[in-house]
Amino acid sequence: MNWGMKNRLNQLMPGGRCFFMPIDHGYFQGPTRSLERPGETVKPLLPHVDAIFCTRGVLRAALDPLTAKPIVLRVSGCTSMVGEDLANEELTTSITEIIRVNAAAVGISVFIGSHYERQSLQNLATIVNQCEDYGIPVMAVTAVGRELEKREARYLSLCCRIAAELGARVVKTYWCEEHFEKVVNGCPVPVIMAGGPKCETELEVLEFVHDGISKGAAGINLGRNVWQSPHPVAMAKALRAVVHDQATVAQAHEILKSTKGKKQAA
Ligand code: 5RP
Repeated sequence: MNWGMKNRLNQLMPGGRCFFMPIDHGYFQGPTRSLERPGETVKPLLPHVDAIFCTRGVLRAALDPLTAKPIVLRVSGCTSMVGEDLANEELTTSITEIIRVNAAAVGISVFIGSHYERQSLQNLATIVNQCEDYGIPVMAVTAVGRELEKREARYLSLCCRIAAELGARVVKTYWCEEHFEKVVNGCPVPVIMAGGPKCETELEVLEFVHDGISKGAAGINLGRNVWQSPHPVAMAKALRAVVHDQATVAQAHEILKSTKGKKQAA
């Protein structure tokens, strides 16, 4: 692995673990609740996360280049939740722009099993070819569009493995209740967990993240379960403890409760 690639991966995943904060939702669903002003949403969370996952539009408009964390730049899109098919994505961002904004990595969705499987995998292969020349890691996002029932181990293992075979340096996928270890073990690069729709309770979030980490996931990319929580900073601190400090669910829950009790500040 070349120096640049190693250095970027280490910035993003110190000690091999990571907590990425996605604020890219607007790229297909518009002004998502609590993300109407992404710069404001993310500001108090910055000290607790390793990187921000966003598009170049939000990066330019809402993030301060002097204080931003490493950026995972979303480089696929061109669909919307009111359009025909979320899987019909294209590459949105040139390699020149990726370098210009000093992205530490890029993220791109693949839609395996969809009508647009080949196109989205071709997008992945193309961006891997471009980014590898400059030592920039590519994170593949195994997306399911509206078919949330696809989030089970057999399908997720297939997706993660294919994404890694095409050259993704990191794969983001969903946690699943059964056999998640098979998803991780079948993938030769680090697997990180997406959040998905907001969980019913905070404890549920801590439990699934803890379970995934204990089964070998390298980290999380959790958005709505953090910034749509009534206590985003407390949630971020608790999750960070699970990802980076081997906290148990009970310890993380204690961090959550005690931080909630304090006036929330960064
Ligand atoms: C969408 C994404 C998002 O980054 C991710 O799903 C958002 O996180 P969360 O589901 O936790 O809100 O890649 O395809």
